[in-house]
Amino acid sequence: MTDLNRIELHLHLEGAAPPSFIGGLAKEKKVDIARAFDVQGGYAFGDFAQFLKVYEVATSVLSTPEDYYRLTLAVLEEQAEQGILYTETFLAPDFCGKGDVSAWREYLAAMQEAADQAEAQFGTILRGIVTAVRHFGPDQAKDTALCAAETAGDWIVGFGLAGDERMGQKRDFAWSFDLAREAGLRLTAHAGEWGGPASVRDALDHLRVERIGHGVQAIDDPALVERLVEDGITLEVCPGSNVALGVYGAWNGHPIQKLRDAGVKVTVSTDDPPFFHTSMTDEYDHLAETFGWQDDDFRAINMTAAQSAFCDAVTRERLIKKLEPTDD
Ligand code: ADE
Ligand code: ZN
Repeated sequence: MTDLNRIELHLHLEGAAPPSFIGGLAKEKKVDIARAFDVQGGYAFGDFAQFLKVYEVATSVLSTPEDYYRLTLAVLEEQAEQGILYTETFLAPDFCGKGDVSAWREYLAAMQEAADQAEAQFGTILRGIVTAVRHFGPDQAKDTALCAAETAGDWIVGFGLAGDERMGQKRDFAWSFDLAREAGLRLTAHAGEWGGPASVRDALDHLRVERIGHGVQAIDDPALVERLVEDGITLEVCPGSNVALGVYGAWNGHPIQKLRDAGVKVTVSTDDPPFFHTSMTDEYDHLAETFGWQDDDFRAINMTAAQSAFCDAVTRERLIKKLEPTDD
């Protein structure tokens, strides 16, 4: 088995579903989602708005806890292939039981069963971050936060906000984030992917998060970069996703190196890898080619990720031990 020494903090579970998996499930259920695929069998979208639509079409075939059990197992097999020891994945009760707490518990039990099996079989560890979808609005987010608060613990470790950053205001979600915080959950929100520095500031001020999903557009505001450093905020950076969606035109224009040079806590994730034709290995290869990152750089990035993970202290120690260089 590949050595497991990578950590991924930002992975959407449905976004990690290979098109062949979703296509196979659609066939089994006799539903026609051909519009979600291109002629090569990949997911078909041209921009972020289309991506979000295709994501929902693909997700629509995942309609039972058993479907999520199979998906979780397939995703974790791939995580192990990619050398990933520990993953935090975004889970949306909007898709898993339509925001109903007892239905959500059934989906969650299925995903946890798959995660236990994958950990025993492949050695890779999974934890969940319950995530509201911004473009579904603040009222639906409250149901999501209730699902999160009801299931907070050693496995559901965080609460987050994904979706279309260009819709609504961060402060509209403050109630949900307050509830999740009171339930003991750690907090992250997508910001500074499509929005500029003000969007990152709003996430810090109104949602009081300790990690930011993406956050890369903070680079346009030196005072904000300084604040990220001073407050010890970790960025879940997904460079391949940003390049695939056109946030940046090419790898050499991506600000990950500048953010790291400025002292921001930077980690590397894949976001929705099959959608963006990427993998953790591809991300590392691009970072090595573009910015000259070497083993020590990757070890440092993974150590930052271990320290910023939302898991319990015992699990974190396991991760840190695994990442420390050995004498042999
Ligand atoms: N949901 C899945 N992928 C996402 C992304 N890159 N940004 C916002 N919401 C998402
Ligand atoms: Zn994301």
